[in-house]
Amino acid sequence: MQDLLDSALQRIQASATAEELEAVRVEVLGRKGVLAQLSKDMGKLTAEERAARGKFINTAKQSLEGAYEALKSRFESDALAKRLDSEWLDLTVPSSSAPLPATGPGSLHPITQIQWEIEDLFRSLGFSVLDGPEVETEHHNFDALNIPPDHPARDMQDTFWLEGHHLLRTHTSPVQVRGMEKLGPPLRMIAPGRVFRNESVDASHEHTFYQLEGMMIDRNVSVGNLTFFMKTLLSEIFKREVTVRLRPGFFPFVEPGFELDIECLICGGSGCPVCKQSGWVELLPCGLVNPHVLRMSGIDPNEWNGFAFGLGLTRLVMMRYAIDDIRWLQSGDLRFLRQF
Ligand code: PHE
Repeated sequence: MQDLLDSALQRIQASATAEELEAVRVEVLGRKGVLAQLSKDMGKLTAEERAARGKFINTAKQSLEGAYEALKSRFESDALAKRLDSEWLDLTVPSSSAPLPATGPGSLHPITQIQWEIEDLFRSLGFSVLDGPEVETEHHNFDALNIPPDHPARDMQDTFWLEGHHLLRTHTSPVQVRGMEKLGPPLRMIAPGRVFRNESVDASHEHTFYQLEGMMIDRNVSVGNLTFFMKTLLSEIFKREVTVRLRPGFFPFVEPGFELDIECLICGGSGCPVCKQSGWVELLPCGLVNPHVLRMSGIDPNEWNGFAFGLGLTRLVMMRYAIDDIRWLQSGDLRFLRQF
């Protein structure tokens, strides 16, 4: 009996392939296999012999099946390794069926270029660059900025409304709120990003454009600080010393609020068609953060105050490169993009 078992085990272990192993399994463990042979004459045995035989058959069965399973899983993992090897795909190989046109390397969109420049500048002044969602809540886009539902300022920004008090953000100012909520004072942050307004599109209006929000909260922040930062920013962007002035402007989340103008870079202030003979070009809205806005975001206005500004990145790019139609920027037109 032991001989029978040993030779069966050897036959299993000698299988060189999965197919061979399967054939051996049928022979050895199948209906006519060793185990069947061992139980064939059970009826003729005494009770004692039968018990011993039963025990032997059980151990034999375990060792045969164990040997079979071990070899089977080795064949399986070998096969898998082989398959993975053969299925390896080099994603960097250029397609042969659709050869790429010889375009050469791409370049950064002018808005990205100016955005990165301004980010670098503000980082060097200790500001963090924050990101916020484009799908915003009514709370962050309006209420927390002191623009309640019935406030006429809501009509200043034609809004794409979504379901459940959500909307496409109409400005980057909601990121101010998120910055205050998340980081608290003191705070120096900018937030560049896409904003959306439900406007009819023409040479100077787009439904989608770019802004860059800035905010600084600290103790004793003054209009002087605001003007300094804005002058530094604009001199850096236009690569020359600029002269700025403030005019009163209304935004519910700043008090006092301003429109900041720069002296016309074309005529140097003497008057030309670009500045409509005024010598000044309106560039960015800004102001000191309304104490009510601080309070709504959990900041004590008796201890902290700050300034905020909203820079139109799209507008800035158009001024810098003398682009006369805003629609070029999102056109994806290579004739336009290759110039940068
Ligand atoms: N969020 C305002 C807008 O887009 C601009 C702004 C930002 C004004 C910050 C003042 C301070 O119209």
